[in-house]
Amino acid sequence: MTKIKATNITWHEGHVSRSARETLLDQTGVTIWFTGLSACGKSTTAFTVEHVLVEQGRLAYVLDGDNVRHGLNKNLGFSAEDRDENIRRIGEVAKLFADAGLITMTSFISPYRKDRDRARRLHADAGLPFVEVFMDTPIEVCEERDPKGLYKKARAGEVKQFTGVDDPYEAPLHPELVIDASKVSPQEAALTVIKYLEDHGHLPKLQV
Ligand code: ADX
Repeated sequence: MTKIKATNITWHEGHVSRSARETLLDQTGVTIWFTGLSACGKSTTAFTVEHVLVEQGRLAYVLDGDNVRHGLNKNLGFSAEDRDENIRRIGEVAKLFADAGLITMTSFISPYRKDRDRARRLHADAGLPFVEVFMDTPIEVCEERDPKGLYKKARAGEVKQFTGVDDPYEAPLHPELVIDASKVSPQEAALTVIKYLEDHGHLPKLQV
């Protein structure tokens, strides 16, 4: 567990409650955690959900692994330790976004169960819903897609510690949703997520 390094810090309670923000936004904060191999359809699904929800007047936002590694997490690589820190930070950021009242999506491989479970616990402790979506797309399909040519490089030994090739991926044991992107379109995958949110009281029914 990461310890607090700073001394002489005090928690400061604001004057605006989460429920006041949620009333303002007319929605409730939630984190939808996408996990799965590179090129399994995490980001495509998440960005489609975001698009549909924003069109419906809901405030949704995607924290995307590749994007966050250009900024906040630019000092992290792909060792187990760095992935742990990557996921620790994003679990904290997602919690803040959800607390702000946003429908928050994270799209990270997040290969280690303990790292994802820590993010889940963080949300549970804060009374925030956490929905883990396992994109269970077969590696053969991800590798066939290979949009960034990284599987090819990993097989050739030019990229090391590549998840699914020479680095582990620990599948979730009890995800809220499992989606195989080789069997459904991005639109169908997105609607499955949205239906889950509606059915579990995280979202009012879509106006269609
Ligand atoms: S995580 O494992 O720490 O959750 P994250 O989702 O942030 O990974 O980043 C994964 C993305 O980084 C992949 O989609 C891919 O584009 C790129 N990448 C570069 N090197 C690797 C690697 N060794 N393993 C996995 N992904 C890599």
